[in-house]
Parts: sequence; C-alpha cells; structure tokens
Amino acid sequence: MKFLKEIRRRRDEKRAYKDSKRIQQLSQRTEYLVDENSPPSVREAFRSIKVALSVAVPKTEGGKAIFVASAYPYAGKTMVAVNLASMFALSNLKVVIVDVDMRRGQIAKFFRATHKKGLSEYLSGQISYEDTVRVSPINENLSYIACGTHPPRPYELLESDQMKELIERLRKEYDYVIIDTPPILILSDALAVAPYTDGAVIVARHETTYLRDIERELELLRFAKVNVLGAIVNGYKDARRQREHDGYSYYYDSARKSK
Ligand SMILES: Nc1ncnc2c1ncn2[C@@H]1O[C@H](COP(=O)(O)OP(=O)(O)O)[C@@H](O)[C@H]1O
Ligand SMILES: [Mg+2]
Repeated sequence: MKFLKEIRRRRDEKRAYKDSKRIQQLSQRTEYLVDENSPPSVREAFRSIKVALSVAVPKTEGGKAIFVASAYPYAGKTMVAVNLASMFALSNLKVVIVDVDMRRGQIAKFFRATHKKGLSEYLSGQISYEDTVRVSPINENLSYIACGTHPPRPYELLESDQMKELIERLRKEYDYVIIDTPPILILSDALAVAPYTDGAVIVARHETTYLRDIERELELLRFAKVNVLGAIVNGYKDARRQREHDGYSYYYDSARKSK
C-alpha cells in the first residue's frame, strides 16, 4: 500500500509540475507566422484547413465572412486566424482580418503595429474607412483592421448598423473576411457580430480545452443561430508517438448539426 501511495504521490507531483509549465507557456503570447521555413506538416495542416473551409462555407454573393471562436483564451484563435488569412492571401485571394477582440486584441502585434486607431474608433465615427483598413507588411493581399482603443461598451458598438455595414463593405472588396473574436464563454461581444457572418470555426487546444466547454460554446453558437462550419484542434499530440504532431488537425463537420 505504501508503495502504491508513493507512486501516486510522485505521479501527482509530476502532473502538477507539467500543468504549471503548460500554464506558464500558454500565458506567454508570441506571434507565430507560418512561412516557407515552417515544418512541412504545419504548412500542410493550414493548407488543408483552407481547402476544407472553402468547401464548408456556403456560396455567397461577394466575399465570405468567417468567425473564429473559442470557449476560453489561449486556444490559439488569433494564431489560427492570422495564419489562415495569410494562407488565403498566398493563393492570391484578397483577405482582411478584423480584430473584434476590443478588450485584448492582438492582431496588430503580428504586423508589428499599434492596435490604436482601429475598429473601435471607426465604429464610433472617429476615423474613416480608409484609415481603418491597413495593408499588412507580409502580403499585399492581406489587410487587417486592428481592434482600436478599448471602448466602454464594446457589445453596443459591435451590434451597431455601422458594424453590419462595415462587414458588407468588406465582403464587396475582399474574398475572405476573417473575424478574430474574444473567448465566447467569457464575453458575449462576439455573438453581436455572428449574425453578419457565414459561420463559425471553433478552435480548441489539445489537452487544454475541456469537452464540456466546447459543448457550452456550441450551445451558445446555436442559440445565436450561428452556422458552425467545423472545428480546429490546435497543438494536437499523437498519443501513440507521444510527440507534438506539429500542430493542427481539422475536423470537418460541414454544419451538419448546427442547422
Ligand atoms: N500549436 C501551438 N504551439 C505552440 N504555441 C502555440 C500554438 N498555438 C498557439 N500558441 C501560442 O499560445 C498563445 C495563445 O494563442 P492565441 O492565438 O493568442 O490564443 P487565443 O487567441 O485563443 O487567446 C500564443 O502565445 C500563441 O503563440
Ligand atoms: Mg486572441
């Protein structure tokens, strides 16, 4: 018995250590951009997500608007949104990423720019459309709208007619409008924008996101009548090979259950 207890104690200690390491790693935000030096499996994963998504989004007049969601922070939404947008841009499609996370937006950081003078200033009538949409330094097909300065009531700005009209205008000028959002189980802000899009892709992080949280997220999205296009599992580790599978896997659900 003593022996068993000792094994359990050591296992718990190891687990606690691993958890604390993981939390430390997760809370350090870095801006990861896939390029020609990235491992082929990572590039391939994004390519297949791109292909699956172009099939999953119903055909629309003008550009397609995709909403990238997750239950909680650190799932990898922003990283996925930027790299997905960049993949579309590389195949000569015009893409714009909109940073709807008006409290903790990170998109501008990817392009070494300031988040100030972005969506919140545009929606409150302080800057023009031309000053709001910026071309990214990495690809001229890729533009972005930074989140702007944290406004007092983001939800009200996001559900306004100006936001609806902005997305309509972007759809006319771009092939893809990728919307990066705040975590849906913490803030309802993103749901204000959801009806203006063609559907959501949910991002979950392997061994970090709980199934019950994904279920609550799906419930919320369905309640808001959002078409769920599929899910991306970020940081997938192959259990058999016990190593990082370089990243991502995509589960394509083609809005089967969400309708
Ligand atoms: N597959 C991955 N492997 C390693 N680090 C990752 C991976 N995905 C995301 N990260 C890192 O985790 C942190 C959180 O990711 P982020 O995209 O900001 O999540 P979210 O937008 O959902 O809060 C960032 O530092 C990001 O670079
Ligand atoms: Mg984010």
